[in-house]
Amino acid sequence: EKGGWPSFMAKEVAEEPDAVANTIRGRVQDGAVVIPELDGSDELFRGIDRIIITACGTASYAGMVGKYALEQWARVPVDVELAHEFRYRDPVIGENTLVVSISQSGETMDTLMAVKYARERGARTLSICNTQGATIPRESDAVVYTHAGPEVAVASTKAFVAQITALLLLGLHAGRVRGTVSAADAAAAVADLEALPAKIAKVLADEQAHVTQLAGWMADTRSVLFLGRHVGYPIALEGALKLKEISYIHAEGFAAGELKHGPIALIEPGQPVFVLLPSPRHSALLHAKVVSNIQEIRARGARVIVIAEEGDAAVLPFADEVIRIPLAGALFEPILAVVPLQIFAMALATAKGLDVDQPRNLAKSVTVE
Ligand code: F6R
Repeated sequence: EKGGWPSFMAKEVAEEPDAVANTIRGRVQDGAVVIPELDGSDELFRGIDRIIITACGTASYAGMVGKYALEQWARVPVDVELAHEFRYRDPVIGENTLVVSISQSGETMDTLMAVKYARERGARTLSICNTQGATIPRESDAVVYTHAGPEVAVASTKAFVAQITALLLLGLHAGRVRGTVSAADAAAAVADLEALPAKIAKVLADEQAHVTQLAGWMADTRSVLFLGRHVGYPIALEGALKLKEISYIHAEGFAAGELKHGPIALIEPGQPVFVLLPSPRHSALLHAKVVSNIQEIRARGARVIVIAEEGDAAVLPFADEVIRIPLAGALFEPILAVVPLQIFAMALATAKGLDVDQPRNLAKSVTVE
């Protein structure tokens, strides 16, 4: 079933261009996003004063990217809550709250219980799910399926990029229904979305060998740090989670701006740090801030591996390694930037002789609380 790939994870990473393309397919009409499954569900998005995105693990990091998309296009405040935390306090939710759950399996018990809790409190519920007819979508008012295809490897990869894609689609759909996104902005975003599959394929073609080699050099590393800002922050968290899960190396993701509030104390000579550098075209300020973070850690001896847009030369003097991703809109970059981090985790686990698909202590679907 692996079709010649060394692992399901390798196969699933290679399927990412298709996972994104299949999730977009049938959901764009004349430059606007129209999600047929949400036909007749406009009321879900009207009159809401709050959106809560709830999920666990990798799906929650997709949710953190989704927050930016929903706030930008639907102009509603969005919070992201880990499903297992959400239920154990007294959240302020009601009929004007939309609770969006995200789950690859659709069976994660923590997420399911959060959805049930939200419904009992009168909230509207929408699920983003990769598994047709699973329990979470059945318990929700509406569902938007990701079409990543079955994911077998325990570590989630293609489902993650499909989840972000679905959230971008959802943001544009909700923005159109609410009248908060202009036709021109929507059309530009749709063009960005439709260009993603070819760009992911380009990252795979251009960087797979480079990143694999990098991982080979780092097989004895005991700790790796990941830094990002804005939508790069959840990608830093995801890069760290992938590494922990399958290569059993201590890894942590930080918001780059937090560095000086504590984590910079961890930096010692030789410490590998991945940094997600946002494009200077989206925000010169954000870009400059991250470049200065890179200088701060480099000055303390960190080994800096930067993921940067093609052509961005600002970082060359301060980076030990540069991994390139194609140009994309600000909210679309995470889908490209996560790919080298997935490859890195996979290659490092392989270099350590570990079973990439079946890491110790983990199950594909966590059906207990
Ligand atoms: C990470 C991973 C987990 C899942 C989490 C939620 O690689 O696979 O963190 O993302 O357990 O699972 P689903 O999406 O099935 O609810």
